[in-house]
Amino acid sequence: MEPGLLLIPGPVPLPPRVLEEFAKPAMPHYGDAWVKAHRETREMLHDLWSAPDAHVFPIAGPGHAGLEAIAYTFLRPGDRVVVVSNGFFGERTREVLLSHRVKADVVSSDWGSGPDIPALREALKTPTRAVAVVHNETSTGITNPLEPIVEAAHAADAAVIVDAVSSLGGIPLPFAKLGIDAAFSASQKCISAPAGIAPVAVARSLWEATDPETVEGWYLNLYTWDRYEREWGEWHPTPTTISSNLFYAFHRALLLVKEEGLEARIARHVKVAARLRDGLMGLGFSPLGPTNLLSNTVACFAPPAGVDPNRLVRRLRDEHNIYISGGLGPLRGKTIRIGTMGTQADPEIMDWLLKAIRASV
Ligand SMILES: Cc1ncc(COP(=O)(O)O)c(C=O)c1O
Repeated sequence: MEPGLLLIPGPVPLPPRVLEEFAKPAMPHYGDAWVKAHRETREMLHDLWSAPDAHVFPIAGPGHAGLEAIAYTFLRPGDRVVVVSNGFFGERTREVLLSHRVKADVVSSDWGSGPDIPALREALKTPTRAVAVVHNETSTGITNPLEPIVEAAHAADAAVIVDAVSSLGGIPLPFAKLGIDAAFSASQKCISAPAGIAPVAVARSLWEATDPETVEGWYLNLYTWDRYEREWGEWHPTPTTISSNLFYAFHRALLLVKEEGLEARIARHVKVAARLRDGLMGLGFSPLGPTNLLSNTVACFAPPAGVDPNRLVRRLRDEHNIYISGGLGPLRGKTIRIGTMGTQADPEIMDWLLKAIRASV
């Protein structure tokens, strides 16, 4: 298949140095080189989450594996969880949690708006084990402010679980400073690695308050991952076979984040997202949400009257070899979505895209 310019909201194009690692012959998933890469990966994940004391794990699986690992390890059937939902991935969180037989109540607000904090405070008057929220709602291009959510949850003695799939590495997410209890992300977005690794972070307080004996399951039980680190750490620190191509590519992608510096990387996302937004608004497109909540990793815009978003997505693909996405759920046929994550956050790429859009509307 002819490669195109991948500007969907993840996966993103791999940087050449990551691609080089991904294409190498397979290597053992244990031994000295693996132990070293694993140790460095954990150190870099501590930096990326800004959480030096948290337990961090590179779980092999998609972002959802991170959510399920947190659910298996820290939630129990019958626990009440309040899901703050304002988009497709908020609804997905609820669906996943319900499958774990927790009681998932939703504090919802319109797609494209911010979280309803007064309604959250009200919902937390009933005893609650945890509040779950999507930091960056990839379906609407809205970044949910976490501070008021953490504050309300902790005031009610509830833990905070954060979906950081489309924010980690692109939008500030100081896990420890915010007081988040557990969070997960995915390798294929702002980190710009291949899909298949879910970085998970857990605060020490939640870790120590949980009895490992009460956790069901093995692979997505984070205490299993911890046990292998402690007991097999000298030669085989991960419990199962992880693709060496994937693991070393992920390690390389984290090295690139470190080389660039997290602050500089986040500043690059701010700048490029603003350039794209200005360009789109100049062409008559309108963002879905209020200016102060617009995401720096995904743009969700409605086209000007008379322009069909699905037709625009197709024309960009067929005539310019550029892949962007359409709307999800109720936004299908109403919006377009463009990723500005990791490698996509490049001013020249955005200018190229805007030129193609101008020629296609
Ligand atoms: C906010 C958010 N959460 C969860 C997911 C699911 O990630 P994965 O497909 O890696 O499981 C996505 C994927 O786009 C996402 O954007």
